Amino acid sequence: MSGEHKGGLEDVVVSTSDICLIDGNEGRLVYRGYDVDELVEHSSFEEVVYLLWHGGLPTRKELVAHTRALASTANRRLPPKLLAILRALPRKTTPMEVLRTGVSALSAFDPDAADNSRDATLRKSIRLTAQLPTLVAAWERIRRGKTPVAPDPRLGLAANFLAMMRGARPSPLAVKTFDVGLILHADHEFNASTFAARVTAATLSDVHSAITSAIGALKGPLHGGANEQVMRMVERIKTPVRAEAWIRKALADKARVMGFGHRVYRVEDPRARHLRRLATELGRQTGDTSAVEILDIVARLVSADKHIYPNVDLYSGAAYASMGIPTDAFTPIFAISRVAGWTAHVMEQHANNRLIRPRSEYTGSTHLAYVPLDRR
Ligand code: ACO
Repeated sequence: MSGEHKGGLEDVVVSTSDICLIDGNEGRLVYRGYDVDELVEHSSFEEVVYLLWHGGLPTRKELVAHTRALASTANRRLPPKLLAILRALPRKTTPMEVLRTGVSALSAFDPDAADNSRDATLRKSIRLTAQLPTLVAAWERIRRGKTPVAPDPRLGLAANFLAMMRGARPSPLAVKTFDVGLILHADHEFNASTFAARVTAATLSDVHSAITSAIGALKGPLHGGANEQVMRMVERIKTPVRAEAWIRKALADKARVMGFGHRVYRVEDPRARHLRRLATELGRQTGDTSAVEILDIVARLVSADKHIYPNVDLYSGAAYASMGIPTDAFTPIFAISRVAGWTAHVMEQHANNRLIRPRSEYTGSTHLAYVPLDRR
């Protein structure tokens, strides 16, 4: 890399956006002007989705219509042929691979697939936001040899997802925690997956293509995949008494500790604070707080040693695990929420579009003479 750029587009402002503000020094996250702390306190995921798409909070009537659309069986159900595609996949296919494949395939069944107008993209965004939980839950059932549970239009998105995953009604605390988790993951400015979605949308490609790109980007362990890696670390540490020695060795070995550090936050990620509180409450309810205890020890030592702080991925997995969600479904759950932000960004990109096409600084050779094959 030349001295002029830091690599990874760090600090490069690509575009203006009205959707999300991150204040990395103050540790603040704002959606459309509203602090996530306020939204966590007073709002629901469905309302936050409306806020991200429409730019302001809904009236009661608008919220009822919007929530009904997201909950309707017509929007939530998967086409039977899509379920047949899922059943044809090898059982070992990871939930994130299934999600990527499923979203791509869903476009083939979408009546608005080729229409990029704002109205059609909004309709497709409603369907995608309604379908993603059904897709993740259906695969969870199929890979375990069980029949998928049909979505229940009387339940909100969080309660319905947990019911479809487990085949049983979740506790009110689990539903509340899951809903807050969805609110906290719904958008995060020009993160890697959102940028991938916007790059795809900027070619005037459709929303299903943009979301497929985003899912591919989210999958990596430096982005959404970190929450799964955190849980694998907790499983390796096993008990709180082993945590200090384990993490001291990891730090001495210069290992990258998942769930810490951030490109934008210089202080603790505000989302981590909420997720820690909720994971603790859930742990108390289920009678096992060991995961949070392990993570607290890890957080104290990593922050003191490296001056990097917990990010959104540190405590989310502990909360999901308490709800009986398997570790490899954590990143798909991130996507169930982030699809709200991705689709908001696709709409914003389409509303004022220009192809995103940066340059590279070429550092290779420039005047080589071609050498015939028999003289190499
Ligand atoms: N563990 C140990 N050291 C770290 C960590 C970490 N988690 N994160 C950063 N550092 C160190 C690096 O080693 C580097 O040190 P050096 O300058 O001595 O070489 C310095 O901090 C800067 O790190 P970069 O990787 O250059 O920072 P960048 O902004 O590129 O990366 C990232 C940000 C990818 C999030 C990084 O902090 C990381 O890998 N974290 C772990 C993965 C993770 O939790 N990702 C989830 C992020 S949130 C999300 O996407 C939802």
